[in-house]
Amino acid sequence: MKAAVLHQVNSPLAIEEVQVDAPKHGEVLVRMAASGVCHSDLHVIKGDLAAPLPAILGHEGAGVVEAVGDGVTTVRPGDHVILLFRASCGRCRYCSLGRPALCGFGTQIRWSGRLADGTSRFRLGGQEIKHFAGVSSFAEYTVVPEQGVVPIRKDVPLDRAALVGCGVMTGIGAVVNAAKVEAGSSVLVIGAGGVGLNVVQGANLVSAEKIIVADVRDNKLEMARTFGATHCINAAQHDVVEAVKELTDGEGVDYAFEVIGNPNTIRQAFDATRKGGTAIIVGLAPMQAEMSLRPADFMLQEKTLKGTLYGSARPRVDMPRILDLYLAGKVKLDELITRRYSIEGINDAFQALERGEVARSVIVY
Ligand code: CU
Repeated sequence: MKAAVLHQVNSPLAIEEVQVDAPKHGEVLVRMAASGVCHSDLHVIKGDLAAPLPAILGHEGAGVVEAVGDGVTTVRPGDHVILLFRASCGRCRYCSLGRPALCGFGTQIRWSGRLADGTSRFRLGGQEIKHFAGVSSFAEYTVVPEQGVVPIRKDVPLDRAALVGCGVMTGIGAVVNAAKVEAGSSVLVIGAGGVGLNVVQGANLVSAEKIIVADVRDNKLEMARTFGATHCINAAQHDVVEAVKELTDGEGVDYAFEVIGNPNTIRQAFDATRKGGTAIIVGLAPMQAEMSLRPADFMLQEKTLKGTLYGSARPRVDMPRILDLYLAGKVKLDELITRRYSIEGINDAFQALERGEVARSVIVY
C-alpha cells in the first residue's frame, strides 16, 4: 500500500510502498478513506513532539473496516469508522467516570509505536515502520486496536467524518463537555485554526451570545465569521485583553478558550476572563513550557483555569452525535475542508498548513 513515512524529523514525508500485515487478536484493518492534516502531525515532523520513527503519521482519519482479527466483537467488515488517537479500554476508573481521554489504554502504543503485542504491522523492505498515536492515517490501510475505532452511520461522507476524529471533536467538545458553556454566555477564542474554528462553531451551537475571536491572520478571522464569530480581533494589531474588555463593558468574557498552546496567549485568555469566569486551555503547549499567573486572581475573582484533552470526549456518544448534528444542518463540516490532496500532495498540504492558508486540508484515498 501507499503510505507517507516520516523517516526523520525536519524532512519531507516520503511516499513509500509499505507492507501492511493482517490484523492480529483484538485488531482491526481499516481501508482509509480520508485523513485530515493537523498541526500535531506538523509538531512531530518538526521534532517539537516526540514520536518513535520512522513512522506513518496521521491521527485524524476515517475509513471502512476491511478485516478484523480474532476476538473483535464491536465492528465487522464494511463498517464505517472514525479512528481515535486516544483509544480507551472502556472499563478503567477514567472510562467509568466518563473521561476516556484520560484512559491509559493507548499509552504504550503511543510511546513504542507498536501495537499491544509489542510489534508493528507496517514494514518497508526489511525495516519496521512505527505506528503513530495508534492511528497512522496517512496510508491506504492501517491496523488499529478495536478500542480505537468508533462505528458511524454510513450516510456521512468519510472525508467529512474524518475531521471529527480530531479537530471537530476537540473544538466542539471543549465547549460542550469541558466548559459546559450556557446559552447567552460571552466567549473568547484565541487562535482560529482547525480546532479553534470548531470551538467557535461549538459556541454557536450552544447559543453563546458574543463569540469573540482573536487571531493574527485576517483570512482566519474571515473563516471564523463563517462559523459564527460575532466579533474579530486581529491580535497582531490590537491588545487582545483590552479589546475583549471593550467589547464586554470592561468585564471580560464568561469563557475564554486558548487554542494555540502558548503561555502568552494562555495568560491572555485568563486575563480576558471576567470574575467568576473560566479560561480553558485547548492548545498543546511545548512540554517544557512554564507560565506565570497571579494566584490572587483565582481567589479574589473566583476564576478558573482548566485544560481539556480531545474535547473531553466520550467518543462513542459524542462522535455519532456530531454527525447527526451535521446532517441536521447544525454543525458545519463541508466548510472546514479548504483543500483536498492525494497522498502524493501531502507535503504541499503541510506547507499550506504552516502558511495558515487553510482551515483543514484533507488527504483523500
Ligand atoms: Cu489533531
